[in-house]
Formats: sequence, C-alpha cells, structure tokens
Amino acid sequence: MGEARHIAVLTSGGDAPGMNATIRAVARCALDRDWRVSGVRDGYGGLMRGDFEELGSRSVAGILHRAGTMLGSSRAKAFREPSGRARAAQQMRDAGIDALVVIGGNGSQAGAWTFASETGLPVVGIASTIDNDLFGTEATLGVDSALHVILQAIDQLKVTASSHRRASVIEVMGRDCGYLALMAGVAGGAEAIVIPEAELPAEAIVREIRAAYDRGKSHALVVVAEGSSSNARALEAYFADRPEELGFETRVTVLGHVQRGGSPTPFDRMLGSRLGADAVAALAADEVGVLCAWKQGAVARLPLAEVVGKRKQLSKELLELGRVLAR
Ligand code: F6P
Repeated sequence: MGEARHIAVLTSGGDAPGMNATIRAVARCALDRDWRVSGVRDGYGGLMRGDFEELGSRSVAGILHRAGTMLGSSRAKAFREPSGRARAAQQMRDAGIDALVVIGGNGSQAGAWTFASETGLPVVGIASTIDNDLFGTEATLGVDSALHVILQAIDQLKVTASSHRRASVIEVMGRDCGYLALMAGVAGGAEAIVIPEAELPAEAIVREIRAAYDRGKSHALVVVAEGSSSNARALEAYFADRPEELGFETRVTVLGHVQRGGSPTPFDRMLGSRLGADAVAALAADEVGVLCAWKQGAVARLPLAEVVGKRKQLSKELLELGRVLAR
C-alpha cells in the first residue's frame, strides 16, 4: 500500500466507554504523521453513505473523559450484503481515503475482515465492546468501565437486600458471553453466577439461595448473564411460585444500557489511547488486516482472520472460586 495519507475511523456496534479516547488517539497520532483523518458518522451506515467529517486536533478535544462515541454508531444490516460493502468501498475511493480503522466488537470486526478481503482496502480493527467476547484479546475497550457500573449497582442492591432480608437477582449484559456476569459475580460476592458457558438450572439457583438463607446470611445475590436460559425474567417467573423454598423474598433488576454509559475508567482511557496509537502505527508499518488488542499487559496485533468467528473461553476456575468465596 505504501504510507497511508488519508485514513478514516469509525465506531461500530454497541458503544463502549473509551471509544472517544480511541478516536482522539487515532486522529492525533495520524495528524502527527501529517496524514489526513476523516471520522465516519454512524459506523458502517455512514461509510455506505459517504458521511465523512474531516478531523483536526481540535475536533477531538474535550472527549477523553466522555462515554459514548462522538462519531455515532450503528448496526448496519446493509453492510452484511456484498452490495453494501461495495458501496462503502466506492465511497472511500471517491473521498480519497486509503485506509480504515474500525473500533468495534465481534460483529464489527467480522465485517471489517470481510470488507478488507473483498475490496483489498487496508483495514485495522480495534477491540472494543463491553462484552469482552473477542477471541485472543484479554480485555476489550469498555469492559472495565462497564464492570465499574455493575459493581456499583451490586453494592447498592446488597444494601437494600440486606435491610429487607431479600434475595436480589441482577441481570447484566454480554449477549451470549458470560464474561461480565462472571467477573461481577466474583467481585460482587454473588451466591450464584449464571452464565451461558455454564448454565445453572433454576432448581439449583433456588438451592443456592436457600443455602444462604440457612447459613444465616442477611441477603443473597444472584448475577445472571442476559444470554443465559435462566435469565432475570425466567427466574422471576420461577421464583414466584416458591417463596417457602427460597426462604428470602426476591427482587429482580435488569441493569440494561446504563452499563454502557459510565465514564471511562483510567484503564479504558489508557487502553483506548494505546490501541488508537497502535492502529496508526500498524497502518504506517503496512501491517493491515489485524486487530489491535490487549494481551499479557501490552498491546498486541492479532490477524483478524484468526480472531473472527471464534469463541472466547471463560475460566471455569474463576466460577468455582466465586462459589467457594460466597460460602
Ligand atoms: O454488544 C454490546 C451489547 O451491550 C450487548 O451486551 C447487548 O446484548 C447489546 O449490545 C444490546 O444492543 P442494543 O444496544 O442494540 O440494544
């Protein structure tokens, strides 16, 4: 490709705290090399429309500490079709853009890889999703901030649950990945952690709650991943007929999108800054078709081909640790 002179950056899929820090780093590191940078509005949707905005150093000022994405994001169905991707490639060529940085999660990186393979355009991905479900990377942008919000909610729920001697069920995001629930469950001291990777039938959850009651605990906490078959609504219905079996009265909270809106933690601001800088360095080195990720405490570049379509494995040991620590 030679040295890229005009790059574009977009954010795609669910927004994640730290995306703005990443956009800022991509823009300023590219400007530092005297490249032109365009922000793409609304993810792949904007790429197909040719909705570009030239970014200067001041355009990315004042966003480092903000959650969300200044560029906007979308889940553009039309980009899943070859015709949508061809349209996007044409828009890039028409605007004189010769490389693309995609900040996003699993689906977005799969799209990035297909786009790069079909069009030959240089693409670099940045691992970003609160779900932390991308294969090969230990942390994705936003997961630390999301966990911060979840733990705050758990701590507060435990207070009121204790006051009323209740069992509190909290459902967290993650799509079909249980990472957020597992971490929040261990760090929040849950009596039961329910994740799609290790489903727990409703009868077993009732037993855990009852055991906490019999041990004289003032409350019980159950953290469930939204992708589990025993999700919050299913458990609420199941518990309704069994007040005696449970011992505790129960309340259910579905935390929802609040998990994505917390201020980016120092870790996510640093991660975004480093991954954004690395994406520009990768383009400068002609190392394209890669995902800028986080491995063993450092930035790592992984071939997108080896990342997309694979499932991250969760630690069964951690699940067991959570069980032991909740005794
Ligand atoms: O992928 C991030 C995520 O927040 C998932 O955890 C969740 O299932 C999904 O996005 C929600 O998507 P939407 O914002 O489209 O409702």
